[in-house]
Amino acid sequence: KTAIVGGGDPRDFVARMKAGKKRLVIFYGSQTGTAEEYAIRIAKEAKSRYGLASLVCDPEEYDFENLDEVPENCAAIFVMATYGEGEPTDNAVQLMQNLEDSEFTFKNGEHALSGLKYVVFGLGNKTYEHYNVIAQRTDAALEGMGATRLGPRGEGDDDKSMEEDYLEWKEKMWPALAEALNVEEGAGGDTQDFVVTEETQHPLEKVFLGELSARALNKTRGIHDAKNPFPAPIVASRELFRVGGDRNCVHLELSIEDSGIHYQHGDHVGVWPTNPEVEVERLLHSLGLWDKRSTTINIVSLDPMLAKVPFPVPTTYETVLRHYIDISAVAGRQTLGILSKFAPTEESKKKMEALATNKEHYHDIVANGCLRLGQVLQYVTGHDIHIQPTAANTTSWAIPFEVIVSCIPRLQPRYYSISSSPKAFPKAIHVTAVVLKYESADAPGVPVRWVYGVGSNLLLNLRYATSGQTAPMVAEGIEPERANVPLYAIEGPRGAYSADSVYRVPIHVRRSTFRLPTNPRTPVIMIGPGTGVAPFRGFVQERVSLAERTIAKHPETGISDWGTMSLFYGCRGANEDYLYKDEWPEYAAKLGDKFRMHVAISREGPRKPDGSKIYVQDLLWEDRAAVADTLVTKKGYIYICGDAKNMSKAVEQVLMRILGEAVGGTAAVEGVKELNALKEKSRYLTDVWS
Ligand code: 2AM
Repeated sequence: KTAIVGGGDPRDFVARMKAGKKRLVIFYGSQTGTAEEYAIRIAKEAKSRYGLASLVCDPEEYDFENLDEVPENCAAIFVMATYGEGEPTDNAVQLMQNLEDSEFTFKNGEHALSGLKYVVFGLGNKTYEHYNVIAQRTDAALEGMGATRLGPRGEGDDDKSMEEDYLEWKEKMWPALAEALNVEEGAGGDTQDFVVTEETQHPLEKVFLGELSARALNKTRGIHDAKNPFPAPIVASRELFRVGGDRNCVHLELSIEDSGIHYQHGDHVGVWPTNPEVEVERLLHSLGLWDKRSTTINIVSLDPMLAKVPFPVPTTYETVLRHYIDISAVAGRQTLGILSKFAPTEESKKKMEALATNKEHYHDIVANGCLRLGQVLQYVTGHDIHIQPTAANTTSWAIPFEVIVSCIPRLQPRYYSISSSPKAFPKAIHVTAVVLKYESADAPGVPVRWVYGVGSNLLLNLRYATSGQTAPMVAEGIEPERANVPLYAIEGPRGAYSADSVYRVPIHVRRSTFRLPTNPRTPVIMIGPGTGVAPFRGFVQERVSLAERTIAKHPETGISDWGTMSLFYGCRGANEDYLYKDEWPEYAAKLGDKFRMHVAISREGPRKPDGSKIYVQDLLWEDRAAVADTLVTKKGYIYICGDAKNMSKAVEQVLMRILGEAVGGTAAVEGVKELNALKEKSRYLTDVWS
């Protein structure tokens, strides 16, 4: 903790505001960093648009008993994410408790916040229940204590429209805030967050070339976590779908030997991706940095309280683009607005401004065309985005690199459910990843083409590289966007490949509560079609390992008193995408009648009388007597993993019917009640994604 100028309590945010002449305090409730990013963006815009300085606060680091002492010419902004089952993020738990606790007293002894002006923006996801409840509860609590809200409450939907929801909300919020604080638009002028300098002195071994922490660079030992990922060697890999088909699913085994990393079945592994090489090259050309790509640069923040340099430095231009910032996402509308003033011609400037200011136009071209930043720059200067970028087919823009650093967010890890058990594989983490690939929609002037997910295509490339091959699409040269060469793993002065011929990928483990009951006598039901089966492979391996030990110890009784594991799995075709098809019989051989597998093969075999496909939820219904027995009579557990949009909701509906009927009632009343009871007792657990 840094001390406040003039001393004082470091947890006193009002003192800090006063010391730094800050008129805004921005609290963020953030779990994965998104709310924090929005908080920083709000702070930057306050500065550049109105000349207002902000204190951006992690609420965990402050006390709230003087929320009633925020000076009258100031305002508090709450950027609050809703997490899990409608809970606050970990760092906002205390803040929420204080806001909602009627016993909580402010410094001045009263409960009323009648002098406080505030603003709320929430981050939620409509796919989940309890959409944005934390923002709503924050708003209600503040309003209840007499505080005055400036402008409407904002609610962003991470499933569909977070960025647009934010842009729309802030355009109403700023004028209301400016009026209340009596400030004029245009008072700020442009602010710069960072200064980038080119260096010639640095010895190369001290330059970050993709390492994610100082420990990784210096090779010093330490705990491997999200702040210091472990470069895990890939010790095995294979294709899980039919070879030669048009879809891929990668199985990778990542060694954690000697890393100090431990995991449990059901945990997640965060994989740190690199951007596709073609996008790195496109931007190097577009920014006029091609010839300087390996020049060492240093970056310092002009206001470390507001904006930290988001990645390790010193580094190089190409490393930043390859490893540290997210140049692969669809370019944001606000970013395009910031960059438009650096357009190389009047015409391209007009085109860029049109994309930035006209929402429909942006949607038609950038969103539908799935254009990444480098592609937008090429598009507005009239170049073909679908060929390998070179100096000859790219126009360079005079965008200062500090602008790129401050307007493009950091590249984030991709999380996968671990598909192994540490009892079966103590030295490796298995990943089962379906490779994301979709066609861009029709957009005028943009070629319709395949768009590849960054994380899963990196894994696909690594899988081919590990077996000494090039991914077929790259070899054919027809899909440059797939050329996602994992340079961190292959070359570079410190590339692991050159050292010991093993490819590596940086990982860390994220703990989860998606776990088997400790007592194997408890029966469980697992529902995981598609790659939703990943964690259940780990669950089954876990019990197989335990069974082997139990049988060795008690050969007579063995596992006769164990509960049944019922796995409901679904795929398209028996020889197409049936994951781990050869393994399940092996597990069944070890567990005998304690393992039952129900498989819904949707595109082959029988259909329902009305002609529709048979899915896992239909098999669940067929098995309803056993399901009810497991959950109601035997107090078993049920797990759902996979698609959050349709599958998990459909399964939940069927489950409510089964539970409702089992207790002699209806789905809508008793079914809902039973299901909620299961959730409360943590006997109904989900690991779903959209
Ligand atoms: P489909 O693609 O033939 O429609 C894994 O993706 C399996 O989940 C596939 O067999 C897929 O079937 C199936 N699936 C698709 N939508 C589903 C839904 N709403 N509920 C359950 N399974 C679904």
